[in-house]
Amino acid sequence: MIPQSFIQDLLARVDIVSVVEPYVALKKAGANYFACCPFHSEKSASFSVSPTKQFYHCFGCGAHGTAISFLMEYQGLGYVDAIKELASRVGMTVPDDRGAGGAASAEPVVSPLLSVLSKAAQFYREQLKNNSRAIDYLKKRGLTGEIAVRFGIGYAPDGWQSLHSVFPDYTAQPTLIDAGLVIKHDEGRLYDRFRDRIMFPILNGRGQIIAFGGRILESGEPKYLNSPESPVFEKGRELYGLFQARQAIRRAGCVIVVEGYMDVVALAQYGIEHAVATLGTATTAAHIQTLFRHTDRVVFCFDGDAPGQKAAWRAMSGSLESLADNKQIAFLLLPTEHDPDSFVRSQGTAAFTAQVENAQPLAEFLISGLKLEASLASADGRARFAHESRTYIERVAAPLLRLQLLKAVSEVAGFTQTELEIAWKLKPALPLPRPEPAQKFAPLPRKRPSTVIGALLRLVAHHPVLATRIPITLLPTDTPEARALAALVDAIDIGELSGQIGLATVMEYFRGSPHQPVLAEQVRQSLDEEFEGHVTEQVFQDALNRLRWSHVDQEFQTMHRKASQQGLSAEEQSRYRDLIQQRAELSRRTPVSDS
Ligand code: CTP
Ligand code: MN
Repeated sequence: MIPQSFIQDLLARVDIVSVVEPYVALKKAGANYFACCPFHSEKSASFSVSPTKQFYHCFGCGAHGTAISFLMEYQGLGYVDAIKELASRVGMTVPDDRGAGGAASAEPVVSPLLSVLSKAAQFYREQLKNNSRAIDYLKKRGLTGEIAVRFGIGYAPDGWQSLHSVFPDYTAQPTLIDAGLVIKHDEGRLYDRFRDRIMFPILNGRGQIIAFGGRILESGEPKYLNSPESPVFEKGRELYGLFQARQAIRRAGCVIVVEGYMDVVALAQYGIEHAVATLGTATTAAHIQTLFRHTDRVVFCFDGDAPGQKAAWRAMSGSLESLADNKQIAFLLLPTEHDPDSFVRSQGTAAFTAQVENAQPLAEFLISGLKLEASLASADGRARFAHESRTYIERVAAPLLRLQLLKAVSEVAGFTQTELEIAWKLKPALPLPRPEPAQKFAPLPRKRPSTVIGALLRLVAHHPVLATRIPITLLPTDTPEARALAALVDAIDIGELSGQIGLATVMEYFRGSPHQPVLAEQVRQSLDEEFEGHVTEQVFQDALNRLRWSHVDQEFQTMHRKASQQGLSAEEQSRYRDLIQQRAELSRRTPVSDS
């Protein structure tokens, strides 16, 4: 684990402006710097970097964070690597206490599977350098060396136990089998799964190698061999190329889903870097949910042949439950003789991009697909068409899209929309499929945050020194905001965080904690408030008074109820008078109407 104190020191030395500047053309305006956001495409400058807060934030897409987050997002670095990179820039060395006293690592423990997979990938990459047949094959397919590096492409040599040279304990290494790299023959003999194949490493969302796809060099069967599923590799969840494509997806505001490894690689070489591929499986709802976490528009681009059309239909069908009215899905079927790889190579980048822009929206694709199957000339056929549509429409949860489909179906079938609704007794749409297990924390309850607590949380996040003045015993614990505030005040009280730090360190301290999203939301709301010192003090005083008032008021209300129902003891009467006075005093000092 990298100690918090190190991260505090690091953030105190690093200047976020100089971290962002090499990649983004910043212009100074007032205290802050502005630029067009590197994380989404835009024409006006909504991306701001605050040197006082050591924080960046895009008012357009909501991207935000510290110098550490910036490197993670922009360069695709892991948390630890981003810290190492920053540390090296300011001449600091990250303390390495791996193994010391069994301290937990900041990254979850690297599974032994991941470590053998990464070692194998390195071996395959090196083998590619020495194998002219493999290099010639890739050249023949039009790949540049640069793109081979971007995707970590390698070569598995021809030989039964090539991996033996990197794993001396090959024969006594069950992990190699579990990772799918080695196969156990009936008589217990072991041999490499991938032999004489071009190797495409498959990365997970964190950039770790979790599997391989291996293509045969010339013709032969099977053309592609993939790693079997393993504890780190679930085919129906992963997408080839997603890790490399993340920034391009955000820039383009869209992701293109294709069928093949070669398609992703070729498109990237032609400057279309926002493409990903499923791994020889149909598109699943999990895929679509993953993609919708990165962007609002997904374009499926399948080969124009019959299997491609079938795949597109299945992808459409699998996506219905995940659709929302602000999410779009579109379909692009290429001419029969092409796949995306051959299309972009023969027709060029502009032609491909134009096709993507003109992709058929889901509603149109669905209706025209159903129409193809129907015989609309007869009343019978039209009723059947409507009947067929129903199963699809019922699965759409997005209200506007659903309405749009209903409208389209009623027009084609010759019913009114109301007739269909009544005939079908349409139930409200099905609930969304279960949320991704990858989501670490339950979504925040949609409860209106208390304004006092929210205000205090914002103030303390920006000015942690104020925390020591908050009477922690007065803090409620009934909302996520209140719990986040209590955690922050507590961290400063016990000295985990120094009061002298700023916003960036606070945010890094809570990285990965359930309080982080709560804090981030408050920070987002307050980034454009830049108070003068005396104003901050006044806002803080007000908030404290309101906090005290609500505390006093609560006790007062209880007493008040008791007084009118059963009367008070002498002692209670004196407390009651006290409360009345305190309440009056506090409400005189500050308006309390909105707390
Ligand atoms: N695939 C597979 N096993 C096969 C064939 C295909 O897993 N035997 C998967 C691979 O992920 C492949 C994708 O399906 O990338 C698409 O297959 P295909 O269109 O045949 O391959 P391309 O990617 O076009 O490969 P190439 O251009 O090298 O023929
Ligand atoms: Mn192909």
